[in-house]
Amino acid sequence: MVLVLGLETSCDETAAAVVADGREILSNVVASQIELHRRYGGVFPEIASRQHILDIVPVIEEALAQAKVGWDSLDALAVTAGPGLVGSLLVGVNVAKGIAWARGLPLIGVNHLEAHLYANWLIPPNDTRHAVQKEHIPPPQFPLICLIVSGGHSDLVLMTGHGQYRVLGRTLDDAAGEAFDKVARLLGLGYPGGPAIQAAAENGNPHRFSLPRAMLESGYDFSFSGLKTAVLRIVQRYASGGEEPRQARYRLFTSPTTSPQRQLPLADLAASFQAAVVDILVRKTKRAAEEFQAKEVLLAGGVASNQLLRQRMSAQINVPVRYPPPILCTDNAAMVASAGYFKYMAGERSSWDLDVRPGLTLK
Ligand code: KG4
Ligand code: ZN
Repeated sequence: MVLVLGLETSCDETAAAVVADGREILSNVVASQIELHRRYGGVFPEIASRQHILDIVPVIEEALAQAKVGWDSLDALAVTAGPGLVGSLLVGVNVAKGIAWARGLPLIGVNHLEAHLYANWLIPPNDTRHAVQKEHIPPPQFPLICLIVSGGHSDLVLMTGHGQYRVLGRTLDDAAGEAFDKVARLLGLGYPGGPAIQAAAENGNPHRFSLPRAMLESGYDFSFSGLKTAVLRIVQRYASGGEEPRQARYRLFTSPTTSPQRQLPLADLAASFQAAVVDILVRKTKRAAEEFQAKEVLLAGGVASNQLLRQRMSAQINVPVRYPPPILCTDNAAMVASAGYFKYMAGERSSWDLDVRPGLTLK
């Protein structure tokens, strides 16, 4: 059994995990900073890196304690080296170097995007097959198409083997999660925006507003900024009491005597926005899966926890669609340990001059 300790500090989560053979989670500890950043409506980089310094040692100690393993049982140490916030990444990479040097452990720098993708190799913690026959949960089959959709990235990737990637498309402007976060802010919903929009959209009518779906049939790149602007225009139109969409008129609540403002149909707008993002992501992923004859489709990154995205992908794509449970979609260190394990088995090692790479992409 090969045990890898994973560390993750690329953004606003301080995380450590121990994973066996790249798939079995022995511990997965995440100290989230969401509450610290909420008042700023997004991640405040300085605060994030300072909090990582405070949290990283107790989080690692907790991960080892929960896994019931000592330092001597570990085979390697994997750490996110990029992409991410430079000050945050520096904490994880330097702590990892210190531990690897002190304990004589191989050090493996991991690409955060690759780590998100490898969350699909992990056996979900509460899967009932976990204890009994975990070896019978087959790993993903190549070739596969993976859609990585997070706060910083939207990448459509063809994967033909471990470490073998071809990026088919990426976002030309906002990432999918970033679009959720920005639109949530426009709508006065909380941070992070993805879960807030999903909740607001629950009883909304996704057909109420017809929003643009950019580049739907052309290539594999994404663009979400036009969609965001379209939502902004609607919000402005309601705020000014200007002309309203015809089909919406009878449902509007107005108070003409006090103000020209009209109440924004929040649920409908959130649902229409969510449906547009999901439409774009599903259409492109489906087309890629067909063109490259994928055996499976994987979803990864924070946005992969979106319910509608999961449902639509599974319903509209003809090959199996796999996605991690929400806790493994957002930032965590189990996925870093898993990616690190496959690199370790392939003989990859990082040298002592491993540096942070805030702008790192997939090859
Ligand atoms: O992967 P992640 O935790 O961090 C990055 O590496 O960026 O992703 C965070 C992103 C945020 O933009 C958040 O709004 C989005 O994932 N997100 C969601 C949902 N849960 C998280 N987006 C849509 N629906 C969700 N349920
Ligand atoms: Zn992430």
